[in-house]
Amino acid sequence: MSKRAVAAAALAGALVLGLTACSSGSGSADGKKSDGKLTIGFAQVGAESGWRTANTKSIQDAAKKAGVTLKFSDAQQKQENQIKAIRSFIQQKVDVIAFSPVVESGWDTVLKEAKNAHIPVILTDRAVDSKDESLYVSFLGSDFVEEGKKAGDWLVKEYAAASGDVNIVQLEGTTGSAPANDRKSGFADAIKGDPKFKVVASQTGDFTRAKGKEVMQAFLKSQPKIDVLYAHNDDMALGAIQAIEEAGKKPGTDIKIVSVDGVKDAFTAMSQGKINFDVECNPLLGDQLMELAKKVKAGESVERRIKTEEGTFTPEQATAALPNRQY
Ligand code: AHR
Repeated sequence: MSKRAVAAAALAGALVLGLTACSSGSGSADGKKSDGKLTIGFAQVGAESGWRTANTKSIQDAAKKAGVTLKFSDAQQKQENQIKAIRSFIQQKVDVIAFSPVVESGWDTVLKEAKNAHIPVILTDRAVDSKDESLYVSFLGSDFVEEGKKAGDWLVKEYAAASGDVNIVQLEGTTGSAPANDRKSGFADAIKGDPKFKVVASQTGDFTRAKGKEVMQAFLKSQPKIDVLYAHNDDMALGAIQAIEEAGKKPGTDIKIVSVDGVKDAFTAMSQGKINFDVECNPLLGDQLMELAKKVKAGESVERRIKTEEGTFTPEQATAALPNRQY
């Protein structure tokens, strides 16, 4: 090869390398990738319930569909794992961090780290109780207080004509989590006007089927009369149904059950008369999250609070909806 040809080849090589470096964006001012492709770091709570599995699938499917690179982490219901995941997303310089906080408190330090690294944070599904609202750009998810209120309103109507005490046991979600706190307070608010409603026992079942069963077994042993079970999610209600049946009682008849989520397994139980009322909590947040994250990356203004539309289901409505239920 002549000297000229070698020089030309070297120049072409340098140009190609330069373009490659540009398209991978290694040189942008804030150190982030600038290839135009959106990268989201998502710190999920865990895989504790049917609802959560549907939520994870919705987010992963939506990311694929939207051409978004998703870095996904499962915290196994532990806050320290979520904090580690967020720190790792900061180090990896993702464009947007999204997460569903396992509990409400204790996020300020790590969220400040994200803010200092100029990485916007979107809360999905669950909220944080931080006073500093600049630590996240938006919160997409349900109104859990409203869900608890809907469960309580149903109970008030159901027992409108009853005169004696109505003894209620409550299976609470994960201690310190937004849905456990809010579903409890919304429900309490709805029933507080009538002293015949008595919450005789209330304990966490951590949103899982196994714990729901275990705690219901304890309730059945310690409480001489249980009229109603209020479960903060369907998985705990389904676990409790097993405990009630094993104790020789009929769920839905001997003990009325009101629950939250609206997953397929609960609809099946409703079609068998085992759950009396279900308040919907929609896990299919993926598409909305991708849209929101794209806007945030583009610097567009977004709503600070985006509430999910949700309904309620009687056994008849659940039976009719069952064949087309997605999750
Ligand atoms: O945060 C949503 C709640 O978390 C769902 O009701 C429950 O099933 C899940 O584990």
